[in-house]
Amino acid sequence: MSTEKFAVIGHPIEHSKSPLIHQAFASQFGKSISYEKLLSPLDGFSETVSRLLSEGYRGANITVPFKFEAFEASHVLSDRATSAGAVNTLSFKHEQIIGDNTDGCGLVNDILRHWRRNIEGQKILLLGAGGAAQGVILPLLVQKPALLTVANRSLDKAHMMVQRFEAVAQSNQVKLAVQTFNDLAENYDIVINATSAGLQAEALPLKDTIFAHHTLAYDMMYGRETPFMQQARAAKAQVSDGLGMLVEQAAEAFYIWHGLRPDTAPVIQSFR
Ligand code: ATR
Repeated sequence: MSTEKFAVIGHPIEHSKSPLIHQAFASQFGKSISYEKLLSPLDGFSETVSRLLSEGYRGANITVPFKFEAFEASHVLSDRATSAGAVNTLSFKHEQIIGDNTDGCGLVNDILRHWRRNIEGQKILLLGAGGAAQGVILPLLVQKPALLTVANRSLDKAHMMVQRFEAVAQSNQVKLAVQTFNDLAENYDIVINATSAGLQAEALPLKDTIFAHHTLAYDMMYGRETPFMQQARAAKAQVSDGLGMLVEQAAEAFYIWHGLRPDTAPVIQSFR
């Protein structure tokens, strides 16, 4: 049997841990796969995907800045890709490109499985209203938190994002709210930073009172201690970076391609 071929496509891509993660999963099942990093030209994403399709690849993960182009390139979209407006996992089947998004599921699974925190009935604060926030809002809502507050620097963007999810929130009995950073004061059970402020090491104007000792402060960014994490740590909250989410989103992609659920805990542990 020939080795199944996969890739992660991005620009830049050198830093990507996806090949290591997928190879670790494959070895849990004694499977041999090839999984490479592909640097696509910024103006050549669709050509890159066409080449993979013609060369018999089974699938690809998509990272910055191509998640929207992957959405556009997909012939078929899952519900979670549609709600995220972005695709991070492509499957190639009989000349068809199938787009899915496993980011939100990755976040939720990390919180539930590794942090052993409930989302149901909890007060959740989501910081940001860009692509990263939109990618996780639906999977959070279906977990039925009591309250999901979205806070963003540009308030109109937060309102626009929230509007699209009001029906889902209602059917899951979630109170959905929008606030400015300045107005946030009460503490939350889980605070998720989905802004890109940490990329420039910029702090968010958050009061310490949003963090209680039991709060899980989760930064979706991986690989650095952001000002958000530093503030939450100083306020004695529990703090997480996005490593668990990275491994869990990969596990869901692995399941889509292979129908197998890998054990994520040892993989997260090995990266720590
Ligand atoms: P991503 O795909 O990473 O979400 P994006 O769609 O550009 O990227 O969204 C970036 C998010 O981070 C937005 O919510 C942005 O806030 P605005 O909508 O007000 O622009 C937020 N963000 C980025 N830098 C920030 C900063 N220094 N302070 C507060 N919010 C910031």
